[in-house]
Amino acid sequence: MIPIEAAMSDFDQWDAAQYLQQYYRHVEADEAATLDFIVRACGRIATPGRTLVFGVGPTVHHLLPLAPHSRELHVADYLESNLLHVRRWLRRDGSAHDWREFGRHVLKCEGVRVPSERQIVEREHLVRSRVTRCLRGDAGLRSALSAPSLGRYDVVVSCYCAESATGDQAIWRRYVRNILRQLAPGGLFITAALRRCRAYRVGPCRFACANVDEHDLAGVLFEAGVEPGQLQLEVRTVDLRARLGYDSIVLASATAPLPQERADRLLAAGRRARPGEPSRRGSDAICAVSS
Ligand SMILES: C[S@@+](CC[C@H](N)C(=O)[O-])C[C@H]1O[C@@H](n2cnc3c(N)ncnc32)[C@H](O)[C@@H]1O
Repeated sequence: MIPIEAAMSDFDQWDAAQYLQQYYRHVEADEAATLDFIVRACGRIATPGRTLVFGVGPTVHHLLPLAPHSRELHVADYLESNLLHVRRWLRRDGSAHDWREFGRHVLKCEGVRVPSERQIVEREHLVRSRVTRCLRGDAGLRSALSAPSLGRYDVVVSCYCAESATGDQAIWRRYVRNILRQLAPGGLFITAALRRCRAYRVGPCRFACANVDEHDLAGVLFEAGVEPGQLQLEVRTVDLRARLGYDSIVLASATAPLPQERADRLLAAGRRARPGEPSRRGSDAICAVSS
């Protein structure tokens, strides 16, 4: 168990290389499930448009299933030191992290029984050709991207970002709302979160986590205007608590949130979902739990 008092939200201490080594040397259970979920969620994309991956960290693996469904891919993160690793991979720098095992897993999820090296390379090539912007992003800001003039996106994907950036649930809710602001009305939001986790390890450091679950996530999405019938939620057991700090994850995809202005008006009018209300809607109607 990671002592909560030792956990921090100060990303000055973030070590991207250590994070890659610790979490991404192999396809761990959480990423196997996350990539499988993204592949299935991509089935909801009718026409390839502009996709934003927000809080991408030093990674590119979530881009692998998105590339065939995106005309253009933009990535954003809070830290330049993370984007450096992404750029390194994009320009095929020899020191870049190796994501081939992740490409193989994505192709398998897409139904390729035994992906060839060539298919993996082709997918990586497709990702490189689709990524057109690497941006700085801060979920704490209403205008969360360093280039706000880019407009809203057809698809926004944000995995292990909002809840992994703060130990405070009120801040987490604000982060999720600000990330959702990047989504065009009728667009698709795909997200993943560490479930009921208060802190996760990166090297010798412990980073604070918002300790959220599927009911919290359903609640914030409903508040933002997502209709229950448009939300797909799954909980997966991953059994990584002893090593990394969590033993389950929540995966969600949602389409067609209300235009943000209307959601803001509803919130301002005090029509916030009552405590318990999202739980009932979230758990009974929507949530699939599997291990
Ligand atoms: C646990 S990492 C997840 C990275 C990647 N999405 C993944 O799945 O491995 C959390 C990420 O949140 C980013 N982050 C921290 N504070 C943030 C903020 N205020 N706004 C946006 N991203 C933030 C960090 O830079 C880091 O890349």
